[in-house]
Amino acid sequence: MSNDTIMIFGGSGKTGRRVAERLMAKGKHIRFASRSTTPVFDWTDPSGWAAAFDGVDAAYISYQPDLAVPGAVEAIRTLSKLAVEKGVRHLVLLSGRGEDEALAAEDALRTSGAGYTIIRASWFFQNFSESFMLDGIQAGELVLPVGDVLEPFVDADDIADIAAAALIEPGHGGKTYEVTGPRLMTFAEAIAEIGRETGRDIRYKTVPIDDYAATLEEAKIPGEYIWLLRYLFTTVLDGRNESLTDGVFQALRRPPREFSDYVRETAATGIWEVQK
Ligand SMILES: NC(=O)c1ccc[n+]([C@@H]2O[C@H](COP(=O)([O-])OP(=O)(O)OC[C@H]3O[C@@H](n4cnc5c(N)ncnc54)[C@H](OP(=O)(O)O)[C@@H]3O)[C@@H](O)[C@H]2O)c1
Repeated sequence: MSNDTIMIFGGSGKTGRRVAERLMAKGKHIRFASRSTTPVFDWTDPSGWAAAFDGVDAAYISYQPDLAVPGAVEAIRTLSKLAVEKGVRHLVLLSGRGEDEALAAEDALRTSGAGYTIIRASWFFQNFSESFMLDGIQAGELVLPVGDVLEPFVDADDIADIAAAALIEPGHGGKTYEVTGPRLMTFAEAIAEIGRETGRDIRYKTVPIDDYAATLEEAKIPGEYIWLLRYLFTTVLDGRNESLTDGVFQALRRPPREFSDYVRETAATGIWEVQK
């Protein structure tokens, strides 16, 4: 395992970047696969997928845009089979908690014959700082079609710790870790905490899903992305995830990171300030 080459699908993303940092810190040889790498890897074009596994021993897979979208299950099935054919030792798949389609993708990996670890994650803390919620927070008002539902937000750093361990340490093969953070929170509570830490007045406003979708359409957001957000806000955030798990502890023998620690560290970077 010490000379392994590890491929990271989505290596510039929220989790992939963190997995890469951990593996590099351990002196591991890593490669990246996405639309901006050479060779190009694109989830919408299977012609380049087999080449991604040339000389690769293990891989971290974060699918785009989400395992819930049509075609994702077949994509994971195909990629997993290619990995087996190419002699890849182990695959770590990032999955989404509360998504039936993601469960089907997990099964496609499990039945492929590949060695695997699955990380089934709740919503990331980093959606507030590295994703579509950031603009609203910087502008002082986050508008979302979600009310008082509780979500056990989890730190992408915890996910990366688990993924890195599963790729280079024994004991994680055949495991599915369902991971959450340590606290159930509403989106309004999360925004209030960010407001307190930054000293800014950041409002949180709930709108009906159709109004939200209409705003996205006006902003010329692609239809597939609007479909996905509609699905996430109406299906995944319908209360089904209002419970905590001990997945981080199972994998790492330590508790998950606290939202308040993430908020303090992220506020200190200045990312949530009004951008000039
Ligand atoms: N955010 C959450 O709260 C959450 C929770 C649970 C599970 N998940 C799952 O996490 C996964 C996303 O992981 P992430 O948040 O770490 O990634 P991310 O931040 O969304 O980053 C996207 C990465 O994917 C690459 N990419 C984008 N489109 C691509 C395409 N068509 N083909 C190949 N690569 C592509 C990008 O690189 P290029 O631009 O170079 O292509 C980039 O490296 C999704 O499957 C999502 O369902 C997310």
